[in-house]
Amino acid sequence: MCGIVGYTGHRQAAPILLDGLSRLEYRGYDSAGLAVRNGKAATEIVKATGKLYHLADKTDQGRSLPDTCGIGHTRWATHGDPSIINAHPHVSGNSTGPGGGEGDSDVVGVHNGIIENYTELKEKLLRHGYQFYSDTDTEAAVKLVDYYYKKYQIGPVDAITRTMVRIRGSYALALMFRDYPEEIFVARKDSPLIIGTADDASYLASDAPAILKYTRQVYYIENLQVARISCGSVRFYDLNGDETSLPMTEITWDAAAAEKDGYEHFMLKEIHEQPTAVRDTLNSLLKDGRIDLSAAGLTDEMIRGLKQVEIVACGSAWHVGMAAQYVIEDLARIPVRVELASEFRYRSIPMAPDTLVIVISQSGETADSLAALRVARERGAQTLAIVNVVGSTIAREADHVLYTLAGPEIAVATTKAYSAQLIAMDVLAIQMALLRQTISQDEYVHLTEEMGTIPDKIRRVLEDKERLQWFSSKIANAHDIFFIGRGLDYAISLEGSLKMKEISYIHSEAYAAGELKHGTISLIEKNTLVIGILTQSQLFEKTISNMAECKSRGAYLMGITTNGNFAVEDSVSFTVYVPRTDEHFIPSLAVIPLQLLAYYTSVNRGLDVDKPRNLAKSVTVE
Ligand code: F6R
Repeated sequence: MCGIVGYTGHRQAAPILLDGLSRLEYRGYDSAGLAVRNGKAATEIVKATGKLYHLADKTDQGRSLPDTCGIGHTRWATHGDPSIINAHPHVSGNSTGPGGGEGDSDVVGVHNGIIENYTELKEKLLRHGYQFYSDTDTEAAVKLVDYYYKKYQIGPVDAITRTMVRIRGSYALALMFRDYPEEIFVARKDSPLIIGTADDASYLASDAPAILKYTRQVYYIENLQVARISCGSVRFYDLNGDETSLPMTEITWDAAAAEKDGYEHFMLKEIHEQPTAVRDTLNSLLKDGRIDLSAAGLTDEMIRGLKQVEIVACGSAWHVGMAAQYVIEDLARIPVRVELASEFRYRSIPMAPDTLVIVISQSGETADSLAALRVARERGAQTLAIVNVVGSTIAREADHVLYTLAGPEIAVATTKAYSAQLIAMDVLAIQMALLRQTISQDEYVHLTEEMGTIPDKIRRVLEDKERLQWFSSKIANAHDIFFIGRGLDYAISLEGSLKMKEISYIHSEAYAAGELKHGTISLIEKNTLVIGILTQSQLFEKTISNMAECKSRGAYLMGITTNGNFAVEDSVSFTVYVPRTDEHFIPSLAVIPLQLLAYYTSVNRGLDVDKPRNLAKSVTVE
């Protein structure tokens, strides 16, 4: 939700800021803005509504702004509509001018997060003579910094820490002060922010891909810390304004991974990166062919002593939890409950110390998942985070962390991170089963070896993409699509349905196949598309019958099943086969055609696949 960037150095700032914003556009894309300065009095601010290219056009790709220090923002609106007035940067003065213009202000800032008590702060500032031009919460934060700065005649760091004490909510704030040319001041609480340095330049961004091209030496600024950033150096301060130190971390992600690499969209590229994402994640959890979770600090005693597992996540990560529930219960015989993080955080679920709460999150910054993690820790549960972004807040706050190695995921709709999470959960389930002796050594060896075949089998499924591309052209005008399955197939249906609706805007629902006749079947009419997932042999006949019930009411059927189940073709109009494997791991294969189907349907409908409307990749608000 919103992306921020900053640069100070000896090069022209605007092209670097625009380049960084282009890699953060997945975080929000309803408007964007830049503020640049060069030690002179005025700060130049340019804003544009809509996607980032409007801002790039307005500034001749940044070339029309010669200054060497600046901040930028791409917005996902929370307070106030997506307009020029509400676009960031915001200023301490009375306006940012039409379309931006010259800032007449002492303080200029960009913000990612939500200031919850902004109305209260606004009233206070109005009483002190400030005027407000926008509907945003950010404007109140920038003006409050200015208020303390002037009232107490203190430096920027002290003005910012005073503000941090007053504001409630989440923020990554980047501010420039007229009196401190070539410097940027940042503050953070619960919104992501990294700072990088290289030679005579410094960078800041909401996410690593924005600065990977320039530096790999980064600092993960802590919650409630302030940083003072000048060319090539950074100083950190705590909430008392005392200087503190932070370790520098080297980012190991490949910069090329954040490029499209010849693919038309990031989503298609990421779909094709799944064999690698799954293989890398798997290899990181295996040592000499055996599962080794020591990097996550999970001891054998702890796993043996578990009585309950709670999996908490949002969206697709929650769907991973739904699949993992079946696998853990079946293999390790531990009761598992899967909760939406936004619900979990407000429920008073009693939790014993022998409960493991697993929070799954690609970004590691999702507000509800983070809040759920904190609740679980407060209630005394052990916590394990399955996270893709190294150094993210969830990774830092959980007791144990297991990283997925999917690399940077740019498309808003997740694909490779989902697959990496699935395999990580499979590994965990097998290790739990071994330690609790619910599977034999032979079964353990078989399952571990079989998991090793998954990357190659995903590659084989990807080879069938042309047929899915063809089929998607037939369904591009559908109004409703139903995805049905039982057991693990139901978990995959949930993901298939979400992928379809979020990027194609076709209404879709996922149903446990046996539930349809309890109400939903009344929606089935002539030519309604019903996609059945039929990979679990024990449940195959049941789901086929449910599909037949739909067909007899006019539905048009597609099926996804495993190689050899050719009988499916007697019942459905279009069949996709995935290679055979142990049925616990089938979601890793069956999800691939569903991702491709959603992708090609979105392309056929002429939509913006990577940046679907109303969405943002990293949901850092409730
Ligand atoms: C859907 C999608 C979202 C995310 C959800 C959680 O394609 O990407 O549903 O899965 O917003 O995000 P993370 O995993 O970053 O916590």
